[in-house]
Amino acid sequence: MIEGKKVLTGVKPTGTPHLGNYLGAIRPAIAMGEKAARHIMFIADYHAINAEKDPAVLNQKIKEVACSYLAGGLDPKKSIFYRQSDIVEIPEITTILYAYTPKGLMNKSHAYKAQVDKNREAGKPDDDGINMGLYTYPTLMAADILSFDTEVVPVGRDQVQHVEIARDIAGAINAHYGRDLLVLPEFYIDENVAVVPGVDGRKMSKSYGNVIPLFADDAAIKKAIFSIKTDSRPMEEPKDPEEILVYQIYKSIASPAELQEMGDGLRQGKLGYGHIKNMLLDRVLKEISQAREKYNYYMAHFNEVEEMLAEGAAKARPLAQQTLKRLKDAVFGR
Ligand code: ADP
Ligand code: TRP
Repeated sequence: MIEGKKVLTGVKPTGTPHLGNYLGAIRPAIAMGEKAARHIMFIADYHAINAEKDPAVLNQKIKEVACSYLAGGLDPKKSIFYRQSDIVEIPEITTILYAYTPKGLMNKSHAYKAQVDKNREAGKPDDDGINMGLYTYPTLMAADILSFDTEVVPVGRDQVQHVEIARDIAGAINAHYGRDLLVLPEFYIDENVAVVPGVDGRKMSKSYGNVIPLFADDAAIKKAIFSIKTDSRPMEEPKDPEEILVYQIYKSIASPAELQEMGDGLRQGKLGYGHIKNMLLDRVLKEISQAREKYNYYMAHFNEVEEMLAEGAAKARPLAQQTLKRLKDAVFGR
């Protein structure tokens, strides 16, 4: 599905990444870069301004996400790595796509509908706090994808609809001009990527405040892991590992042999909650300690990251320019 394809991954700068982001988004995206014929990885900063209006906060989030991916092993020589706002062709292409984006398609977009639902629950008018950036979000995302002749877009389930919208818009343009001006993208869901539970058992998410931090110091990571919910059953009581939250989180990071060891210990009443929390802590630290060093380095030397992003933009722009030219030639009959 990915092998030999032109793959594009977009990431919104949403705040300090946690273990769920790392296992569910960062690590799989980097693995993509190894397999794809061409991998583009970009920071969707224009998407972020719909919600984040404070430049200092936004800039910090962009830095954190850029450094997280580099720390996780993203190789800017293998993946084209840039900031969306450095590719001025993307907003131009978006403008052309607007002319082929039915308003009804935007009405149906999940991102917009979710905000309307929230407003209704709060007894506010439907459009309260909704700007045109949020409303037309899927068209900009379509431009992100279509500008680079992307074949495959790896996404979480919540983003499938957006890729389908990109495909619909591309299909409408190709049909109108009677030729393949744009490549029709497909979404890809990696079934091996699990949703990591947080310390309270709900999905790990910044918005729930239940995260295991990623690039914090050992003490902060330990504190989060030792706050994972358990019950008061004694160690000797045999337990079904699937009912134990620490084990559930361990599942997303441990090797099959490591998982077996924890599972057997729980089933046989040989491992207590303190033991298994320490096992999880060791495993998390083993996984991230190298990445954490790199993260701290890049955060402190962000000028080096700026250079990488500039090089990435220099590689990406000529590709988007070709798409823009193809579209303008068709649209204006040149
Ligand atoms: P949050 O829920 O903390 O705000 P985001 O919505 O910013 O996280 O998610 C960024 C990326 O990380 C997305 O690709 C999302 O699918 C992934 N992700 C977020 N939380 C988890 C989780 N608990 N398990 C696996 N992947 C996750
Ligand atoms: N909408 C995506 C998200 O919220 C981020 C994104 C923007 C994206 N443009 C993209 C993802 C293009 C894939 C392709 O996570």
